[in-house]
Amino acid sequence: MPGGCSRGPAAGDGRLRLARLALVLLGWVSSSSLTSSASSTSSASFPASAASALPPLPGRCPQPCECSEAARTVKCVGRNLTEVPADLPPYVRTLFLTGNQLAVLPTGAFARRPPLAELSALNLSGSRLTEVQAGAFEHLPSLRLLDLSHNPLANLSAFAFSGSNASVAAPSPLVDLILNHIVTSAAQRQNRSFEGMVAAALRAGHALRGLRRLELASNHLLYLPLDVLAQLPDLRHLDLRNNSLVSLTYVFFRNLTHLESFHLEDNALKVLHNGTLAELQSLPHVRVFLDDNPWVCDCHLADMVAWLKETEVVQDKARLTCAFPEKMRHRVLLELNSSDLDCDPDLPPSLQTSYVFLGIVLALIGAIFLLVLYLNRKGIKKWMHNIRDACRDHMEGYHYRYEINADPRLTNLSSNSDV
Ligand SMILES: *[C@@H]1O[C@H](CO)[C@@H](O)[C@H](O)[C@H]1NC(C)=O
Ligand SMILES: *[C@@H]1O[C@H](CO)[C@@H](O)[C@H](O)[C@H]1NC(C)=O
Ligand SMILES: *[C@@H]1O[C@H](CO)[C@@H](O)[C@H](O)[C@H]1NC(C)=O
Ligand SMILES: *[C@@H]1O[C@H](CO)[C@@H](O)[C@H](O)[C@H]1NC(C)=O
Ligand SMILES: *[C@@H]1O[C@H](CO)[C@@H](O)[C@H](O)[C@H]1NC(C)=O
Ligand SMILES: *[C@@H]1O[C@H](CO)[C@@H](O)[C@H](O)[C@H]1NC(C)=O
Ligand SMILES: *[C@@H]1O[C@H](CO)[C@@H](O)[C@H](O)[C@H]1NC(C)=O
Ligand SMILES: *[C@@H]1O[C@H](CO)[C@@H](O)[C@H](O)[C@H]1NC(C)=O
Ligand SMILES: *[C@@H]1O[C@H](CO)[C@@H](O)[C@H](O)[C@H]1NC(C)=O
Repeated sequence: MPGGCSRGPAAGDGRLRLARLALVLLGWVSSSSLTSSASSTSSASFPASAASALPPLPGRCPQPCECSEAARTVKCVGRNLTEVPADLPPYVRTLFLTGNQLAVLPTGAFARRPPLAELSALNLSGSRLTEVQAGAFEHLPSLRLLDLSHNPLANLSAFAFSGSNASVAAPSPLVDLILNHIVTSAAQRQNRSFEGMVAAALRAGHALRGLRRLELASNHLLYLPLDVLAQLPDLRHLDLRNNSLVSLTYVFFRNLTHLESFHLEDNALKVLHNGTLAELQSLPHVRVFLDDNPWVCDCHLADMVAWLKETEVVQDKARLTCAFPEKMRHRVLLELNSSDLDCDPDLPPSLQTSYVFLGIVLALIGAIFLLVLYLNRKGIKKWMHNIRDACRDHMEGYHYRYEINADPRLTNLSSNSDV
């Protein structure tokens, strides 16, 4: 097959690919069947022998991976790899390392000589990562997208995205950071707050100031650490779906002036207060998604309902419904009038019965106490008399002593008698 074939018609291209595939397969077969010394000689000799017919391969492909130089993609998917392959081809732009058993991503896990200067999308989803060390993504100057989803990240270094040298935190080139479903059980993370750990990594050294997309869905987040968003001034898309956020009262979005989409579906929000409403309203381009939160339709929701009727910020606002109290369940927020939103002291039925029960018990105790008093009335009378007598005796004694002390003629006597 002459070299001119590669520039020929489509059929020639296809044949060239087939030939390459055969070569790769041969390489695999030889390396897996022969001894290590034999395979090293074969890998050296095969390209040399093929060079006469084909242009030389510019980069090798790590053994368990599939490489496509045309698409600049390397896929090492579902291979149970325990570490990042050392011999990644330098042309790689998109790298899939999903479904492996990486466990720990050490400092400089992708640092190569020469560096992987083209690598711009790195997918490490579902690779059982529990630890990402400081500077794990160092020396990847073009890395724009990083997906670490579906890894039980118990130990995410604060400098994971900035650099191993904390004193010179380099700005990260990351634009899209996807951290969905990276939460671990409380036991695994040894009392460290998950929110705090993630916040530290997002904040370190202002490294992520170029970030435009942050996904943190399905992480059981209970709160949003206060200062995190302030460090991500360029954020366009923030996804906090399917967490456990209860309130946004102390979260400040004001500076996220570029924010375009803000996903808060499937959280535990009960109400948004005036301050939050004003912050959201002040963002020029934002669309907020609030579906599937347990809105509590009482007087505290009145401000939010009034705002909802006016605002264009909330997407599909007609879908928002009340979850509590019982009598308001499934009512559409937009259709509520201020007269519907009262804070009457009606307690839920379970609480009512428990209060009734408590009242009955208290009344019984009181009745028994009174009965005991009544039955013992004679004894008590006697007891009262005794006490009164004792008091009187005591008071008289005291009076007497006072008189003795007060009488200057008797002071010497009393002090002598004390001795
Ligand atoms: C990965 O490991 C699992 C369990 O140990 C095994 O069932 C599976 O075949 C392995 N996959 C590969 C590609 O080796
Ligand atoms: C990363 O890979 C996973 C598994 O194949 C896939 O579901 C996910 O969409 C990928 N992430 C990106 C950003 O493409
Ligand atoms: C997290 O990693 C650091 C550095 O590797 C280590 O010192 C620390 O003990 C780890 N913490 C946990 C909870 O595993
Ligand atoms: C970190 O960077 C500073 C300043 O460039 C340098 O002095 C220091 O030696 C570096 N530390 C490490 C551990 O590389
Ligand atoms: C974790 O918390 C438990 C109690 O909440 C405590 O007994 C234990 O010592 C803590 N462990 C660490 C490593 O701080
Ligand atoms: C929501 O998050 C939980 C816990 O992280 C997860 O198990 C569940 O699959 C998620 N649901 C959706 C619809 O993503
Ligand atoms: C918001 O931006 C203003 C000016 O741009 C700055 O002074 C202020 O500190 C920022 N607020 C936060 C919480 O970062
Ligand atoms: C919230 O704002 C509205 C309109 O600006 C105002 O009428 C209302 O009193 C405020 N509510 C609270 C609790 O401050
Ligand atoms: C709310 O008030 C408007 C007019 O004030 C009325 O037409 C509407 O029926 C009321 N809605 C409810 C649910 O009471």
